Amino acid sequence: MTLSAIPIAPDIYWVGAIDWAVRNFHGYTTHRGTTYNAYLIIDKKITLVDTVKKGFEHELLERIASVIDPSKIDYIISDHSEPDHSGTLREVVAAVKPEKVFASVVGQKTLARHFGDIGIPVTAVKDGYKLSLGKRTIAFMETRMLHWPDSMFSYLVEDQLLFSQDAFGMHLATAERFDDELSWDLLERMSSDYYANIITLYSPQVAKLLEKVAASGLSFKMVAPDHGPIWRDMARFGKMVENYGKWSARELVRKAVILYDTMWHATEEMARYIADGIVAGGVKAEVMPLGSSSRSDVASMMIDAAALVVGSPTLNNNVYPSLADALTYLRGLKFGTPVGAVFGSYGWSGEGTAQLKEYLASMNCAVIGEVKTQYVPDAGTLTACRDLGMQVAAKVKELLPE
Ligand code: FEO
Repeated sequence: MTLSAIPIAPDIYWVGAIDWAVRNFHGYTTHRGTTYNAYLIIDKKITLVDTVKKGFEHELLERIASVIDPSKIDYIISDHSEPDHSGTLREVVAAVKPEKVFASVVGQKTLARHFGDIGIPVTAVKDGYKLSLGKRTIAFMETRMLHWPDSMFSYLVEDQLLFSQDAFGMHLATAERFDDELSWDLLERMSSDYYANIITLYSPQVAKLLEKVAASGLSFKMVAPDHGPIWRDMARFGKMVENYGKWSARELVRKAVILYDTMWHATEEMARYIADGIVAGGVKAEVMPLGSSSRSDVASMMIDAAALVVGSPTLNNNVYPSLADALTYLRGLKFGTPVGAVFGSYGWSGEGTAQLKEYLASMNCAVIGEVKTQYVPDAGTLTACRDLGMQVAAKVKELLPE
């Protein structure tokens, strides 16, 4: 008995793996698990597009075996060398003994650096190269820095099927394989989380790629990413492309994220009053306590936020360590959030808020106010917190007039 391949088009199958259990994907909290998608094309040259993360190679080979003897595979394509898609190349090559493995020009080098000798030389394909499989043709399109230097798309010309590797994917483990079997709200939320955490830094490249694809005149009947469901409702996919356009252009809304951690609830109390002031000022407030929110949950909230308000107690002359973690992560993603403010409680030295201001400055986030208090906030401090919230709201509304 083997796990099954899922047909997605005539002679084309999904043969990936479902990772129901993963909750930490290199620091990104994957609340709903993920999938590592791989695709099998049956043609004169039987072709496998991508492999799976280490530990899932048996699932991949079983699904392939439900259609054909894996040793009949002629070609393997690596669209992207990150280990969740290429980490089992060596094992799969050993099991399949393919005639050729293809990767982009950069991918040829990157695969060697990652995995050493995979048992076969890797053949590099240039941007625009067309590979005949028999009745079908694969056209390759480089997508450098989306999101790795070696990333590329593989487009199955006759089927108008795009293998888009990480682009348009999402970390979502489901028994369903297609977008039209799932609600749009779920797809949009999971895609937005994925974009915020994986792609935000590369937004300039996204904008260029969307232009390049539009200029190519390519049309799509199906888009098959490396994570999550396959897009076959092209009206929905069009809406997702619009979302990518919006997210890459950093279209902001009147929303402030309040990010804080607390030792003895004083900084938490301040956060409540700041949130109240922001809401009273007519701006949406999303409060993210780091005791119960992961850094990637915060990043997801940041995708369209116009303000970031950060609070920390001072612990041993420093910000609380969880703030350093979350702010380092957010800084790397380069959200470019325009409005900032800081707050926090301290015992006797009080360096926390000053260090928060340094973080925000390094994120090009202009700090418009600060409230700090010794030990616990009194009524005057809480009034100042509410006023700070009102100031943040006013600044957001000034930047985003209706
Ligand atoms: Fe899903 Fe960039 O690997």
